[in-house]
Formats: sequence, C-alpha cells, structure tokens
Amino acid sequence: MKFLVVVGFMQIGHTMPDGSQAYIHNVPQFGLGVFLMSKPGECKASVLTALKAGYTHIDTARAYSNEHEVGQALKEADVERSSVFITTKLRRGHAIGYEDTLEHCRTSLELLDTEYIDLYLVHAPPEDPEHRAPVWKAMEHCLEQGWVRAIGVSNYGPAHLEAMKEYATYMPSVNQVEFNPWLQRPQLKQATEHVGAKVMAYSPLARGHKVDDPELGTIAERLGCTPAQVAIKFCYDEGCITIPKSSNPARIVENLASLDIDISSEIEAIRSLECNYVSGWDPTTEP
Ligand SMILES: NC(=O)c1ccc[n+]([C@@H]2O[C@H](COP(=O)([O-])OP(=O)(O)OC[C@H]3O[C@@H](n4cnc5c(N)ncnc54)[C@H](OP(=O)(O)O)[C@@H]3O)[C@@H](O)[C@H]2O)c1
Repeated sequence: MKFLVVVGFMQIGHTMPDGSQAYIHNVPQFGLGVFLMSKPGECKASVLTALKAGYTHIDTARAYSNEHEVGQALKEADVERSSVFITTKLRRGHAIGYEDTLEHCRTSLELLDTEYIDLYLVHAPPEDPEHRAPVWKAMEHCLEQGWVRAIGVSNYGPAHLEAMKEYATYMPSVNQVEFNPWLQRPQLKQATEHVGAKVMAYSPLARGHKVDDPELGTIAERLGCTPAQVAIKFCYDEGCITIPKSSNPARIVENLASLDIDISSEIEAIRSLECNYVSGWDPTTEP
C-alpha cells in the first residue's frame, strides 16, 4: 500500500576551499534506518515494506551486516535505481588508511549490488587521528570516481569538523549524529552547518527508549498522533534528514505518516524535553 505522504528533498553539497559548492545532490529528507536488523531476511523484508509504503531513502552501514539485503530488496522491488537514495558507511575499524577505504567502498558497492552509492559516510572519527586525513582523501577519490554521489561524516564533533579544513578539498555534505527531542545539540548543529553540511538525525526515537515518555505522550494526545510521530516530525522540522528504524510493518507506515502532522502548536513543549540524553554512543567528544 502506498500513501500520499510527500517526502521533502534537501540539497546537499560539498564546500570547497574557495567557498563554492561541488557535487550537489538531492536527498529525500526522510528514510528508513536498518540498524539492528540482524535476523536473516529482516532487513530485506523491512526495506520491501518501506519501499511499498513510499520510502525512497535507506540508511545502512557495513557495521550492520545487511548491505546485501538492502541490495536484494532493491532488485526484488524492481524499482529504478535512481528512485531510491542509498546511504551506507565506512566501518570505524576499516577507517585506517587510504587504500583500505577505497577497498571497503568497492566491497559496499558489491554487497549493495549497485553501480553507485548515493551517500557514503565515515561512520565515526577514525580512532587514530593520523588516519583521518588519508581516509577522507580516499572518500574524496570515491566521489571523484563517481562510485559515490556524495560523501559525509558521522559522529564528528565540532573539533573534528574544524580539523577537516586542514586536509579536505571537499568538506562533508552531512554529519550524521544522534538528534531527537531529548538531545537537540544546538552547538553541534551550528558547527555542522558552519562547514556547509546538513545534520542527519539518527536515533530520532532515542532507540525506542523514549517512546513511552509520559510528557511526550501528553503532547501526542493533544496533537492527535502517536508519540513516535511527534519525535520524528520534530527532527524533520528542525531541518534534519531523519531516519527512524523499524522492522514492524505498521510502524514503518506510522513513521512515514508523521510527515503529515503539524506539530507547530506544541513546539515549545517538545523543545522542553531536552535532557542531554545519549541513547547509544557519542564519539563526537572524543579527542
Ligand atoms: N551513525 C551512527 O552511529 C548511527 C547510530 C545509530 C543509528 N544510526 C542510524 O539511524 C537509524 C535509526 O536509529 P536507531 O535504530 O538507533 O533508533 P530509533 O530509530 O531512534 O528507534 C528504533 C527503535 O524504536 C522502535 N520504533 C520504531 N518506530 C516506532 C514507533 N512508531 N512506535 C514505537 N516504537 C517504534 C523500533 O522497534 P521496531 O523495529 O520493533 O518498530 C526500535 O526499537 C538506525 O537504524 C541507523 O540507520 C546511525
């Protein structure tokens, strides 16, 4: 079943040292995250459900061990490659040098069984700071070769982003970080936008830890929607590319339908949920 929910597009690009933008690409501002879909077939089934419902963006990663299932779902759904936006990520343990980065990008292309990746991210700042420049230079090579349409980072803090100015020809197009009503990160958002990147909000439901939050429930009741829909629409309205995960077919549909909800009358109440809650990891503050 396809619903008439309009997913907005956002332009992403890479700021060059002279201030111009390169490799501009359009990204659907909403997608399906496929982290923790480790049962065989779970990711493929969820992606198929999502595509049928009207999703056009899938966020995977090598670390999730399911790029191959995303590729299988795309083939089985028989959709035009250009109608779906695929984000994947270079695993942190693989981000150890130039050649390794190239090799792992090629492996992701094979696993996804695709000619190109729409958005390729460094999953987290490479643990050895010496590796950050060569890894990024390799990401830039992937971009120039057309293996990927856009490159970005994930879990980079303001200091990591600032340091990139020393070695990047193309600054990142996005910074994927945890962002939700309980972790609104104004400084990190500003630092990301300062380098010309868009914020991509992961764990918009704080990994499900906060969907039963009574305050969120009261707001949802007043708006006549579900608690999860409030959190998702908040991230989206804050200008973030928003990628909730669900492998439950009804919730996959519910989450997409959040885009139709007007939360403006409750925006102050939602903002006041901020409590600096990190639901998973947070490498943004690492040295
Ligand atoms: N770059 C990074 O380091 C990083 C880190 C974490 C996540 N991510 C990306 O961001 C995506 C989303 O984040 P996430 O998976 O951590 O967490 P999330 O999207 O915040 O929450 C997912 C959890 O919420 C539940 N859920 C989903 N929709 C719901 C609804 N409508 N009502 C109630 N519960 C609902 C899911 O269970 P069901 O499946 O049973 O519905 C699951 O347990 C990931 O899948 C991944 O693609 C990236």
